[in-house]
Amino acid sequence: MLGLFEKKEHRLVINAQKSLVLKHKETILNGALRNDVKFPHSCKVGGCGTCKCRLISGKVKELTDKSYLLSKQEIAENYILACQSTPKSDVVIELPNWDKNDNGVAGYISGIEPLTHNISEVIVSLDDHIHYKPGQYTSVQTLDTDIPARCYSFAHKHTLDEDKKTSFFVRAVPEGHMSTWLIDPMNIGAKVKLSAASGDFYLRDQATPVLCVVGGSGLAPIIAVLEEAINSNSAIIDQPLTLLMGVRSQRDIYYQEHIKNLGVLWKNDFHFIPVLSDEPIDSDWSGQRGMVTEYINEKNCHYGTGYLCGPPAMLDAAMKKMQVSGMESHRIFFDKFLDQSGSS
Ligand SMILES: Cc1cc2nc3c(=O)[nH]c(=O)nc-3n(C[C@H](O)[C@H](O)[C@H](O)COP(=O)(O)OP(=O)(O)OC[C@H]3O[C@@H](n4cnc5c(N)ncnc54)[C@H](O)[C@@H]3O)c2cc1C
Ligand code: FES
Repeated sequence: MLGLFEKKEHRLVINAQKSLVLKHKETILNGALRNDVKFPHSCKVGGCGTCKCRLISGKVKELTDKSYLLSKQEIAENYILACQSTPKSDVVIELPNWDKNDNGVAGYISGIEPLTHNISEVIVSLDDHIHYKPGQYTSVQTLDTDIPARCYSFAHKHTLDEDKKTSFFVRAVPEGHMSTWLIDPMNIGAKVKLSAASGDFYLRDQATPVLCVVGGSGLAPIIAVLEEAINSNSAIIDQPLTLLMGVRSQRDIYYQEHIKNLGVLWKNDFHFIPVLSDEPIDSDWSGQRGMVTEYINEKNCHYGTGYLCGPPAMLDAAMKKMQVSGMESHRIFFDKFLDQSGSS
């Protein structure tokens, strides 16, 4: 029951630019979408982190635990998940990188290149330029189906068509609606729309050793970041780099030639180490076996910067190991590829 003086409706102000009224018990995200605000989101159930925003003033009730998705620093800075927060008072929020006029960029699927048995590179030709920092992601929406939009990280830039062509590494999630649709060759030519780029995973010009940890399709934004470092002659290419790829078996390793070429252009040591967790014991594999975390140590962490992308469980374990091995938490950057099951 509502308290005597408790208001049923509360005002929401976004980036001091948009003001609207939220209904009783309505989440910030639902209220914003109801008012046609282009609010970044994907899962709507507290599983992906796309809707994170900073609470500047006011109080909210949080419906789920956000510590799984947000870093300690983000929590200390008052970040909340808009899809999991209902206001208890009038609230003011800040939405990083918000483009309130974002109408997205339309295009079509112009190519699908299998990379492994369950990951394909999906190439999208766009009607217009799309601007993003390598490492960021976009929300992909199909135009001729009612499949809900999902987030995908931009892979490397396609130099011939500059920004009018982009691509994603998409892993087919069993029973996943969007991922299986995107990698289906029947959909070459199908129309899609990409939202404005989001996310705070991108290159930092810190001149420290670099440790990258990837799992599955998490390689896409890492490739984008490393290419950006080389193309912009960033200070980090003078530093040693270790790229750990945690996969199950040999058939899951991909993009090796491309990674080798990046290693040639890197000015300091460049170590690419695939680690197989489920390779048959009697196979011809002579490389590393076990969990990727076993290869994170003081040597590759001390005074270093970390970039991680992939399944949330792997990233959580890797980040813990990085911190106990001497990497400072503010030097660890990550994107968790969460899906509706919470275990991408
Ligand atoms: C920031 C970010 C970047 C990402 N970048 C990439 C990328 O570059 N490449 C990539 O491959 N993926 C990426 N992802 C993951 C991607 O957004 C999708 O979540 C993924 O492709 C699955 O979408 P889907 O529509 O195929 O699956 P969905 O249809 O959403 O289903 C996913 C799984 O959840 C199960 N499921 C569905 N609904 C529920 C429910 N209510 N309860 C329990 N289980 C449920 C399904 O059975 C299935 O197993 C990223 C995610 C985020 C948050
Ligand atoms: S849309 Fe809020 S966490 Fe995914």
